Amino acid sequence: MKKWYAVLGDPVSHSKSPAMHEEWFRENGIDAGYVPVHVPAGEIGEAVAALKTLGASGWNVTVPHKQDIIRHLDRLDPLAREMQAVNTVRVLPDGKLLGLNTDGPGFVRSLEQGAGPDRKEEPVLIIGAGGAASGIALALVQAGYRSVSVCNRTVEKAERISSRTGGEALSLAEAEKRLGEYGTVIQTTPVGMSTGTPGLPIGLEHLSPDAVAADIVYSPLHTEFLTAAASKGCRIVDGLGMFVFQGALAFREWTGVMPDTEKMRDRLLTEMGYADVNRKTEKLFEK
Ligand code: ATR
Repeated sequence: MKKWYAVLGDPVSHSKSPAMHEEWFRENGIDAGYVPVHVPAGEIGEAVAALKTLGASGWNVTVPHKQDIIRHLDRLDPLAREMQAVNTVRVLPDGKLLGLNTDGPGFVRSLEQGAGPDRKEEPVLIIGAGGAASGIALALVQAGYRSVSVCNRTVEKAERISSRTGGEALSLAEAEKRLGEYGTVIQTTPVGMSTGTPGLPIGLEHLSPDAVAADIVYSPLHTEFLTAAASKGCRIVDGLGMFVFQGALAFREWTGVMPDTEKMRDRLLTEMGYADVNRKTEKLFEK
């Protein structure tokens, strides 16, 4: 019987996940579909019960349900438990619901594809201390990154994350001064997002040209942070890779198949109107 999957969120109509997963199902000859489902805040319990009754094989969860869904699940994988946030659910053969988090691991895959896997000894600085930052910090530690520090406008929130990663918590001003100490700098705030505050979360004067600069924002693809880092000679990793890899890891969890992430990235870039821009800018940014 045809299997089906979904993404639950509010808003959800703009999500690129349905087209991405349907393309991967087609590419891999898997008879399955994937639909967006609009679920308002506070209604995730009813939605989960409905999906179980209707026989969904798994689903993704996005804003605002990543925490709320947990009490409706039977099991959590270790990272989702540690983060207390779920973005992927798999229905196990016995009907039990397993919650996972592929956001952080998706970022790590994207970083390693863009910057190489051999940077684990380089100290990492994460700018921002929200849910995305926390997932990325824990996934980096789990992947073997030696030192993961966090800077944030509200330092207490950075402390909450760094107490679990063993790194430092810094104010934005301190981070600006000490930026040269870091080999990888990851931007996770909404600053620079098309719909957010324009500009940079911290000044990049002391950023080393040997550092890798990564952003989790992908609209615009090249944020001010990435553009400024590239102009200093840094290698950059944009936020689209994290989106593609979090989806790919969910797909693998459901089907056992790791889908083609590179082809998907090209397809999304073309859809977003970046095909030519990206090829040109990639050249511009190449070290
Ligand atoms: P998410 O959970 O999606 O990562 P979030 O919880 O809203 O998003 O986190 C946003 C992060 O960006 C926070 O660390 C926030 O700083 P505060 O903890 O001090 O609120 C940071 N942030 C948001 N706007 C910012 C700005 N204009 N300058 C610097 N940091 C900002």
